[in-house]
Amino acid sequence: MEDKEIIAIKALDYVTDNSMIGLGTGSTANFFIKHLANKIKNERLNIQVVASSTVSEIEAQRNKLNLIGIDTLETLDLYVDGADEITNDLNVLKGRGYDLVKEKILAQSAKKFIIIADHSKRVNRIGENYPIPIEVLKSTWRLSKKILDKFGQGSLRKNAAGDAYAISSAGNYIFDYSFDEMPLRDLHEKILSSPGVIETGIFYAITDCALIVDNGHIEILSK
Ligand code: A5P
Repeated sequence: MEDKEIIAIKALDYVTDNSMIGLGTGSTANFFIKHLANKIKNERLNIQVVASSTVSEIEAQRNKLNLIGIDTLETLDLYVDGADEITNDLNVLKGRGYDLVKEKILAQSAKKFIIIADHSKRVNRIGENYPIPIEVLKSTWRLSKKILDKFGQGSLRKNAAGDAYAISSAGNYIFDYSFDEMPLRDLHEKILSSPGVIETGIFYAITDCALIVDNGHIEILSK
């Protein structure tokens, strides 16, 4: 079994009956969705789920989970998602899958937010391996870019086929930006205070716990 599946199964330890669970996006999150569906079926659990993206919505439907719309959600018990980067102090970079604002709102609303990742996602500094994704209003992206260009360099993300710009399921464009080094909290706040910016892929100080796997060996990082 591959590491991503091992760590997705480990996250089932945090699943309780009669709860509302948020489903993350990516290959690790997909393993979680599959094994969650098996657990619900085998143990006859009463669990509702909410999706963070179109991809996780399709996976939830394929696995016949009891899916509710994010627009009707009022409370969330648990949110389990993958990551693109994670530091030892539990700051996380997300957003390769486009849906930053939905992922962030679920992460911050959940009573418990758990990251599941393999060892390759560990970094010393957020932004080490990937640029920072930034979800922006489509209509004013040129103006937002001018503002962000004062302290960083980046461009609009293309879709997977490379023939159009990527659009989040909330209908926004995504920038990928590199910034001069500064404390992460300051960077996060500086990006967020730029007009037209809806959300950043920096998940600063909101992760409760990270389950990390390295060749089958599991490490749990907690707040
Ligand atoms: C989605 O926007 C991302 O934050 C994913 O959670 C991330 O890309 C993890 O993907 P894998 O689980 O496929 O590595």
